[in-house]
Formats: sequence, C-alpha cells, structure tokens
Amino acid sequence: MGQGLIGIFDSGFGGLTIFREIEALIPGYSYVYLGDSARNPYGNRSKETVFHYTSQAVSFLFERGCELIITACSTASALALRRIQQEYLPATYPERRVLGMVHPCVEEAQRATRNNRVGVVGTRGTVSSGSFGAELFKLDPEIKVFQQACPLLVPLIEEGWDSKPETRMILRKYLRPLKSRGVDVLILGCTHYPVLLKDFERNMGKNCRVIHPGEATARALADYLVRHPEMETRLARSRKREFFTTDDPKRFGELGGRFFGRSLANVERADLFYLESAALTGPRA
Ligand code: DGL
Repeated sequence: MGQGLIGIFDSGFGGLTIFREIEALIPGYSYVYLGDSARNPYGNRSKETVFHYTSQAVSFLFERGCELIITACSTASALALRRIQQEYLPATYPERRVLGMVHPCVEEAQRATRNNRVGVVGTRGTVSSGSFGAELFKLDPEIKVFQQACPLLVPLIEEGWDSKPETRMILRKYLRPLKSRGVDVLILGCTHYPVLLKDFERNMGKNCRVIHPGEATARALADYLVRHPEMETRLARSRKREFFTTDDPKRFGELGGRFFGRSLANVERADLFYLESAALTGPRA
C-alpha cells in the first residue's frame, strides 16, 4: 500500500528544475525526490542501462510509498519510460503510475507552433532515441522535427559555468543549425537546460517560443490529477518533502540548491543497488 507520495526521479540534480516548477504549481502534495548522482550522467548511456537504472529508481520510490512517479529526466523518459509502463508496472504495481516529461513538452510544442517546424535539444541519448520526434509525429504528422544533441552543456552547467563566455559560445554553435531551419518552437529536452533559459531565448530570437520542460511537466501533472480523481484522492496533502541521492548527501544538498532555487534540507542516501533483481522480479515481500 502506498503512502500517497509523489515521487520525482532524475539521474542527478537536473530534475530539481522540474520539481521546482511542480512544487510552485501544486505545492499541497507530498513529494520524494531521488537523484541517482552516483551513476549520472545517463545522457551517453545505452537504452538497456538506462532502463535498468530507471527501474531500480522506480522500485525504490514505490517501496517508499509513492503512488505516482514522474521521471523528471529526459533521457530516462525517452529511453526507459515506455518499457516501464508496458512491462514493469503491469507485473509489479498495476495500480500505480509512472509519467514522463516527453509527452508534456511535445503537447505544448504542437499547440505553439505556427509553421510546423519544431526544434529539440537534449543529451545524445535523448536525441538518438528519436522519442520527441516520434511523439510529435503521433500528434501531427505534418510537423517537421529538427534535433540537436548538446552533450557539452550538462557538464558545463554542473561546473557552474552557465554564465561564462565559453558556454555562450558553445550554445550559439549548437543552436545555429536549428535557427537556419527556421524552427518557431524549441523544446528544451533536458533537465539542465532551464538554467540557460534566457540564453536559449536570446539566441533563438523573439519569433521562437522556447518550451521549459519543468513548466510543461508541472502543467501536465496538474491536469492529469484533475482528469484522474481515482489517483488524486490517493495522494497525501501533508506537504512533506524528502530528498534522496545515491551519492554523497552533503554534496547533493550543496549543488542541488542551485537547481532548486533554495537549499535542500535533510538529504539522505538511497541504496538502489540491492534492488537489481527486484526490478525484474517484482516487489519484495
Ligand atoms: N537528466 C538528464 C536529462 O534530462 C541530463 C543529465 C544526464 O545526462 O544524466 O536528459
């Protein structure tokens, strides 16, 4: 039996930019955040590895009493979510739910585009999965998608180099091909990129709408809860906040504050590694 918590999972700190927006929009619920910092980044890992790590994280959060989990990580949403929803959930926790951040971004992009040309930026894994393009195609086959992997941005942001000229120069270089394609919407398909939101907007110009993945995910979650009262009524409203990391809690608390916008109290260490087989065989007794 769950304890009515909403779980937020990311490969590390980045998902805090998503959680921040969720918390701002629907603060009354109780949330548990898990960052798999010991094994991040996920962005260059294989689909199989990302699925394996994500299923361990999901198992951990369900064992903590989550009813609903948001994979607040683009790479995990793009590479693992579908398999989690189709194979893992029905076999282990059929009453609970896992939602991602690809669909919310794509829906907003479809609504916003006027010329049917949408850009997507993300990690190498997200871009090569083609997930954003595939979801957009399902909504509207007329929309043309132009993608750009930006693998240098995550390490630069984590190093705190977000306002350095070197980072601005690299960003300009990444965005040049998308600008030349005339996209009028750009999806930030990575948790870290909202840190550079203003730079993305400045570079793309006023005729391009930049989709913030946290805002899109928060709006989609609030909407999901309105449409699913059977889930909403199972959620606790005690405004509890818990933070877990698979690495050093002190470092997580220090660095995480930059992404969350305020300091994180009481970060605890999570041990996911024993969950290796639980992810494959179902919940432990
Ligand atoms: N959280 C990842 C994402 O949104 C970025 C960091 C990583 O590569 O693990 O794609």
